[in-house]
Amino acid sequence: MTQKKEPACFDQRIEPLDPAKVHQVKLVTGRLMPAAAFGTFHSDWAQGYMEDATAEAIRLGWRHIDTARAYENEEVIGEAIRRSIREGYISSADDLFITGKLWNGYMNPKDVAPACDATLKALGVDQIDMYLNHWPWPNVHTPGCAGDHRNPDAVPYIHEAFIETWAEICKLKKAGKVIDIGTSNHTEATMKLLLRDVAEDDRPVANQMEMHPLFQQTELRRYFESEQIICTGYMAVGSPHRPARDMFKEHRSDMADPVIQAIAEELGVSAGRVCLNWAFQRENKSGGFVAMTTKSARMADNLKAATEDILTEDHLVAISGDGTEAHSGIDTNNRLIWGQVFLWPEANGDWRILWDDSQVFEIVEGYQKFKASWAAHKKVQLETTFRG
Ligand SMILES: NC(=O)c1ccc[n+]([C@@H]2O[C@H](COP(=O)([O-])OP(=O)(O)OC[C@H]3O[C@@H](n4cnc5c(N)ncnc54)[C@H](OP(=O)(O)O)[C@@H]3O)[C@@H](O)[C@H]2O)c1
Repeated sequence: MTQKKEPACFDQRIEPLDPAKVHQVKLVTGRLMPAAAFGTFHSDWAQGYMEDATAEAIRLGWRHIDTARAYENEEVIGEAIRRSIREGYISSADDLFITGKLWNGYMNPKDVAPACDATLKALGVDQIDMYLNHWPWPNVHTPGCAGDHRNPDAVPYIHEAFIETWAEICKLKKAGKVIDIGTSNHTEATMKLLLRDVAEDDRPVANQMEMHPLFQQTELRRYFESEQIICTGYMAVGSPHRPARDMFKEHRSDMADPVIQAIAEELGVSAGRVCLNWAFQRENKSGGFVAMTTKSARMADNLKAATEDILTEDHLVAISGDGTEAHSGIDTNNRLIWGQVFLWPEANGDWRILWDDSQVFEIVEGYQKFKASWAAHKKVQLETTFRG
């Protein structure tokens, strides 16, 4: 179920929230990161609103802005930041915590520094607070692509290649272009390999990943936390307006879930607010969320989620469960980004392979061996099996 798209609605009469009231999570480096991040991915429909939306979010008190080169709007977000300074919402970009992401198409070691430089220039800042590697492999899709888009050059995770990209990201930190570094969409196996091979100073301190009430990823989140990696959840209200390529008939709506609806009704708040308060309060407030909206009222409401604990322990158990049959929670493994547009040939069309760590390679040569044997197997399969 998707929510009907309504035009953006900015309302200067809505009072800003005091940013100091927004909870901050402590990174292992000791720095503080606002738990609520304003998303700037326009889901291929709201691009025209993103400058106004971001400036309005800053006016209303959001201080953590989540950006990415892949969103093709870093200049627009940069303009929103400059406008916010002109309007006096913030005194300088230093008042913000900016997250940026290295896009898959720039993971070749020689492309990393220029990509980061281009991001800094477009955003109009000297430094980014948190720089994430957007996805663990270099597979690209065209912006706005359809769900059946496939890139014949796509490859699985190959650690030997990733670690070279990561080394360049670490250099950006040493050069002072980025302050903290992290990953996005890493799995347990890919993170284990990374942590195995990096020095203490080069460890990721955050991982951004899909998390919402119907897709909680609690075990993976706990694993990252056990390694002192803070987790932030994207699509935190269930991304009702996500691109068509990420819509599948199996999907369910977080905000329409009966448990979420019942809690919202009991507390007299919106369903979106319940999702975000859960994202904020779960697991002892150890992580954060990323949410986007083009409406002032929702911006204010969404930010409030990271300022007050409106959910009781019983509400949290109703959503998360407590491991007992009586309280199983509402997680239905409802992953919204299947990532099929990133699939490599040997995944054989099965998007689950992207996430289940069954095709993770340590070295390029290992993957090449696998690829050759897979091609031979595929050929024999085509020659010998009956296909009606
Ligand atoms: N690292 C990654 O790979 C990755 C992947 C996806 C997303 N992200 C980041 O995460 C951010 C959030 O993801 P998302 O935008 O897809 O999902 P989302 O924040 O869950 O959903 C955003 C949509 O929900 C609506 N909405 C927001 N708050 C609402 C509320 N309180 N009640 C009802 N509707 C509400 C908004 O519509 P209206 O504008 O009409 O309010 C907006 O279109 C992105 O912008 C991006 O920064 C990162």
